[in-house]
Amino acid sequence: MHAASLLFVYLLALFSTVFAVTHTVVVGGNGTLTFSPSQVFANEGDVIAYEFQSGTHSVVQSTFDNPCTAAPAANAVNSGLVTVDQALIDSGVRYPTYRLGVINASEPLWIMCSVPDHCMKGMVMVVNPSGNKTFDSFKTTALGLNTTALFDSSATALVPQSSLGKMLVGAMAVLAVSLAL
Ligand SMILES: *[C@@H]1O[C@H](CO)[C@@H](O)[C@H](O)[C@H]1NC(C)=O
Ligand SMILES: *[C@@H]1O[C@H](CO)[C@@H](O)[C@H](O)[C@H]1NC(C)=O
Ligand SMILES: *[C@@H]1O[C@H](CO)[C@@H](O)[C@H](O)[C@H]1NC(C)=O
Ligand SMILES: *[C@@H]1O[C@H](CO)[C@@H](O)[C@H](O)[C@H]1NC(C)=O
Repeated sequence: MHAASLLFVYLLALFSTVFAVTHTVVVGGNGTLTFSPSQVFANEGDVIAYEFQSGTHSVVQSTFDNPCTAAPAANAVNSGLVTVDQALIDSGVRYPTYRLGVINASEPLWIMCSVPDHCMKGMVMVVNPSGNKTFDSFKTTALGLNTTALFDSSATALVPQSSLGKMLVGAMAVLAVSLAL
């Protein structure tokens, strides 16, 4: 684990002990193409824990205007593709979980699944929507897209469940790391 990850682990530990609330978002619950809940209202310091419960999905940041296109920012959130191995779950291993720390509660975080046809089928969610940029509007835009041509399925790395499970806090949000810079 490199220095930035360790820093994030430390920050998250600090948040957790002092004032953090963890908001769990189930990804692919009951085999559905959903994030549940699809809207989270979180405070700064809170943690969003994306728990992958079935199939292959990802947590990828997009934008309100382009719900099914990965946000261009270099530090955009991207879990990589995560496949749930049911045999591991049955043997008692916990669901792979990807955790993000919320640094700026005024900044909405638009999220989609980058498996080619999942976003256009409505597999989207948002943390801290604001004003008239609502979840419903975001989802309606996603449902109107044909993402077949949008995705390069090789663009997101496959994250083995074993390595994700071993990481203390899952992958890091650069949003959180930037607090320390
Ligand atoms: C899965 O189904 C059960 C039983 O219908 C329900 O209680 C639960 O909320 C569902 N979970 C998700 C993430 O949709
Ligand atoms: C938080 O996000 C809002 C909305 O994007 C932005 O206007 C503000 O400058 C950000 N605050 C900080 C401290 O970065
Ligand atoms: C939101 O409100 C702003 C300002 O009132 C307006 O310019 C914009 O078109 C609205 N956006 C949507 C998605 O309705
Ligand atoms: C979606 O886009 C692909 C590739 O551009 C095209 O082959 C397909 O017909 C489109 N599907 C629909 C439903 O428009």
